[in-house]
Amino acid sequence: MTDLVAIARSLFLHGKGLLAADESVHTATARLADYGIGAGAESRRQFRDLFIGTEGIEKYLAGVILFSDSLLEKGDDKNLFTKSLLARGIMPGVKVDLGTEPFPESPNELITNGLIGLTERLEEYKKQGAVFTKWRGVINIDGDTLPSAQAIHENMKRLASYAKEAQSAGLVPILEPEVLMNGKHSRASTRAVTGEMLQTLFSVLAEHSVDRASLILKIAMILSGSENAKKDTPEEVAEDTLAVLMENVPTQIAGIVFLSGGQTPDQATENLSAITRRTRSSGAPWPLTFSYARALQDEALAVWKGKEENVPAARATFLARLAKVSGALS
Ligand code: 13P
Repeated sequence: MTDLVAIARSLFLHGKGLLAADESVHTATARLADYGIGAGAESRRQFRDLFIGTEGIEKYLAGVILFSDSLLEKGDDKNLFTKSLLARGIMPGVKVDLGTEPFPESPNELITNGLIGLTERLEEYKKQGAVFTKWRGVINIDGDTLPSAQAIHENMKRLASYAKEAQSAGLVPILEPEVLMNGKHSRASTRAVTGEMLQTLFSVLAEHSVDRASLILKIAMILSGSENAKKDTPEEVAEDTLAVLMENVPTQIAGIVFLSGGQTPDQATENLSAITRRTRSSGAPWPLTFSYARALQDEALAVWKGKEENVPAARATFLARLAKVSGALS
């Protein structure tokens, strides 16, 4: 087994998952503003420290995905975030894409940037302590018109180029082609689009000779659009999610992680629990776990509100949610 395969597999230790703490400056600013917390480099550092500095997270987390700035930042304990994570046996990873912009050939869709200069940035991130990486592509559904085949293809091609570069740099790639929840579409439509996207992804990955055994797939669960009146039951979500994965994902990949995508913390927990139950009966060939941002962080942010005196209560809230989400894996 290569080192990369071993690292990728170790992100799937029993009962553990990933915290996605890799919001870009823009997203972190908007997230903090939602809770009345002012923007700025120091408030973003405190936001990261709130979660990374919580005692006991190593019981539930095998990895944390950081934003590149955080590779150089320290917690209130004066230790680099990367060092304090590693000291607790948690692997630090980094988001390496540079965000999205409108896709020129179909301006209502998005394409992810970051391939230019990626080789040099990967080298830097590795020196700074990252052991795995993430690239997010975004696919949106709009009636029968979107996504376009071109947007799917271009996003999957960029994911494949990134994965190849990450592996050459000795870093595990997490490929995150996210089908957005936003919209009125049905769960059947999410399932069909996700299937088509995964078919394209794995055929482009083969063309780029990307090693499957050391790559991790990060996707959204199969849900009805957030503006669709239908409320999916956890069993429906689990059935469709596992079906689309079994139909379209080769057995050899290191594992699959789920994003929360705008689900409430309870939904993301209950749906994961139903997926875990169904995994047992369906015999899925890959390990599965969580890689949530909002579903793990939102409740704690509401308690914290950017105030020092609320840190202990916010951390207790975070730990309680982590325990529930981790519990959903058993
Ligand atoms: P959410 O869990 O909030 O969807 O975030 C996960 C993520 O990594 C988005 O890129």
